[in-house]
Amino acid sequence: MDELSKKFLIGLVLTMAIIVILPIYAIRETKRHTSAAERFTEAAVERGAITFATTCSGCHGIQGGGKVESPSFIGFPLNPEFREKAGLVIKLPGGDSYVIDEDVARKVIHRGRIGGDPTNSLSPEEKKLTLPNLNMPAWGLDDGGPIKDFAIEDLIALLQHWNQGAMDEALSHLPAAQLDGLKAQAAAGQNR
Ligand code: HEC
Repeated sequence: MDELSKKFLIGLVLTMAIIVILPIYAIRETKRHTSAAERFTEAAVERGAITFATTCSGCHGIQGGGKVESPSFIGFPLNPEFREKAGLVIKLPGGDSYVIDEDVARKVIHRGRIGGDPTNSLSPEEKKLTLPNLNMPAWGLDDGGPIKDFAIEDLIALLQHWNQGAMDEALSHLPAAQLDGLKAQAAAGQNR
């Protein structure tokens, strides 16, 4: 084989190698991005669980089930499992997962909502849960609340990807008296 053919052959082999390797690389890269996005969401859910445990669980339950979890929790169910029980589910186009409407959740967390107000546009299922004088407080800084916008986004991540493991972990760091109180509230609903 002359020198030129040899070079040609080497060039050809290397080109083939690129053709084979590039798609493998592309596939691995997509996977890497997906798992980075998943880890990002997971971290947001874990932070959201800490805020939820300290700030929301007294009304929305230690499993996020609200009044469906126990009548001594006065808030609406937020955990998708309990929302399904209460008929508050939303079917996503193309998917079978049920989540809370992100925009509604964001608005209600920021601004609060007056319970039993006939001007609230609630579904018939939601109307069964709402009661006058049981209000959702406003939490957004702009509305006089204590929670920063990014922490509200973490709460939204939690509502969309409920993780009871992260919630139990967050609850375990609460002061014992607070945790005991929450457990007693939850237990009040168990023999119904
Ligand atoms: C003092 C009790 C209380 C606390 C604390 C509380 N909530 Fe609520 N929340 C309610 C009540 C009551 C409602 C239902 C209001 C109504 O009837 O429209 C509600 C409604 C909601 C809704 C609307 C649900 C839906 O289906 O439209 C969201 C979202 C929500 N709360 C999130 C939170 C988050 C997140 C926290 C913690 C930062 C929190 N709440 C803390 C009482 C509370």
